[in-house]
Amino acid sequence: MTRLRGGADGDLPNLRGGALPRAEELASGAMLLRGFAESESAALVAAVAQVAASAPFRHMVTPGGYQMSVAMTNCGAAGWITDRRGYRYSAIDPAIDRPWPVMPPAFRNLARRAAAAAGFDGFAPESCLVNRYVAGTQLSLHQDRNERDYAAPIVSVSLGLPAVFLFGGLKRSDRPRRVPLASGDIVVWGGPARLAFHGVAPLAAGDHPLTGGCRINLTLRQAL
Ligand code: SIN
Ligand code: FE2
Repeated sequence: MTRLRGGADGDLPNLRGGALPRAEELASGAMLLRGFAESESAALVAAVAQVAASAPFRHMVTPGGYQMSVAMTNCGAAGWITDRRGYRYSAIDPAIDRPWPVMPPAFRNLARRAAAAAGFDGFAPESCLVNRYVAGTQLSLHQDRNERDYAAPIVSVSLGLPAVFLFGGLKRSDRPRRVPLASGDIVVWGGPARLAFHGVAPLAAGDHPLTGGCRINLTLRQAL
């Protein structure tokens, strides 16, 4: 078992009565940090509401013309966007023609600690994509490859309703692992796993004390 800064020590009980390790390697370069953000989760959700008050959640359109079922917004110096012209980072929120809200320092700080716990020191994200899933929402397998360089990892924070994260390999055809994620869990992938295909299975309906009927995911990236 790995001891982690950032949360209580020790294994976490699960619903089947067994104990799940707090840190689990999903692949070389990819770590699941269970409960890492648990103690901060209410503050994170409150900060997301602040972000969304200036940059509302919206359903973006893919270059192929499909509207995404995941609702998205961003904070930080750059935000990930998609429209008919392609996927990219933009300093401006195209919905309101203004810069994205400043990234709450708590996001950057948490991401830096989580990356370090997974073996990636010096992580300094300038971009945070905020995804909102409701029952039935899914995110198909993809690679995060719009960032300028792939030396830095991706840090992904789960809040609210549980989800099944699909974590595949470097080829789209590699069969993904199904990884249950609970509120407060963080997945970090970088190094040899930086371009791993990943996605989210259709969200099951539920009601979570923090977020009601949805799941919020923060994806922190060094994009520029
Ligand atoms: C993403 O791949 O951008 C988000 C993954 C997630 O919601 O867990
Ligand atoms: Fe992604």
